[in-house]
Amino acid sequence: MCGILINKALQNYGKIKDIHKHFSLLEPENVEICMETLFLKQYLLMERIEIKEKLIETIQVWKKKGYKIGFVPTMGVLHQGHMELVRRSMLENDKTVCSIFVNPLQFNKKEDLDNYPNTLGNDLQLLKSAGCDVVFTPEADAFYDGVELNKYNFGILGEVMEAQFRPGHFEGVAAVVKELFLVVTPDNAYFGEKDFQQLAIIKRLVNLEKLPIQVVACETVRAKSGLALSSRNVRLTDEGRLKASDVYDALSFCANNTSIFDSQTLVEMAVAKLAQRCEVEYFEIVDEDSFERIENWEESEHPRAFVVVHIEGVRLIDNMSLNP
Ligand code: PAJ
Repeated sequence: MCGILINKALQNYGKIKDIHKHFSLLEPENVEICMETLFLKQYLLMERIEIKEKLIETIQVWKKKGYKIGFVPTMGVLHQGHMELVRRSMLENDKTVCSIFVNPLQFNKKEDLDNYPNTLGNDLQLLKSAGCDVVFTPEADAFYDGVELNKYNFGILGEVMEAQFRPGHFEGVAAVVKELFLVVTPDNAYFGEKDFQQLAIIKRLVNLEKLPIQVVACETVRAKSGLALSSRNVRLTDEGRLKASDVYDALSFCANNTSIFDSQTLVEMAVAKLAQRCEVEYFEIVDEDSFERIENWEESEHPRAFVVVHIEGVRLIDNMSLNP
């Protein structure tokens, strides 16, 4: 029993590993009871907070105790991509806060906001089982009450790809993330490479605002087919999912053929392949630091391909490093 509990705990809760330090003081049967109690506590003790002031109070108590705080902002409909961020935060911090907030400011199309799925019950269960300490689920009006929205100059990052095709999107992302950062004041904040341009925007935001926060990039989690996990995938039929795996194939094709083709030819081939079964919004190969489009491979040490397609009315975004 004890072995199972310990294994389960270690799989699920990075932070329980420190408990081992105290085991040597206990009789074996007490270790079992201790683990069981801790295990159950982890399950039962996630706190849901909806009010900023309450969260700020909780954070202040943690800070007084010298706890390192990890933060994972999300819009819910959680999947293993999100949970990987949560797990990483739990391993690297004493406390983990996850926010679930569908931010109206970052949707440039109202129907996209209206159609955004909601699986709150399941999300809370997932976070609880993972051992997340606090889930923050604010209401939009209260969240933005009295918040001043800044205008940022993100340079080329604020002009290309997502910025170009979703006007106002990054302004909305910056607004919500900055406010969340001010409330949570995390040591580490976790973002997925799946939204690589967003990740770059957040790093720039932290820089511009001089916030003492480490932005941690986490690799894209994919289904077996290569399809990047996304909250939007739930809206795809089985056939749609099959088509969506073309995105990974097109990105992999580019990554595997940089020594044979120039970047423009790769883009054309990828678009031609994708266009057979999807509607392509953009496919770009740019330098992942400058976000400048690449004409010759010599121009960039870190080329990356970025793509957005539409399948069955669902907008899917993905990217891949083209470094060997
Ligand atoms: P959301 O789409 O819910 O994503 C939350 C975080 O999970 C982001 O950092 C995103 O990049 C990451 N993520 C999503 N799918 C992933 C996958 N398959 N693998 C790894 N990470 C993945 O991105 C947002 O919410 C919002 O814009 C937000 C930052 C919360 C601001 O509102």
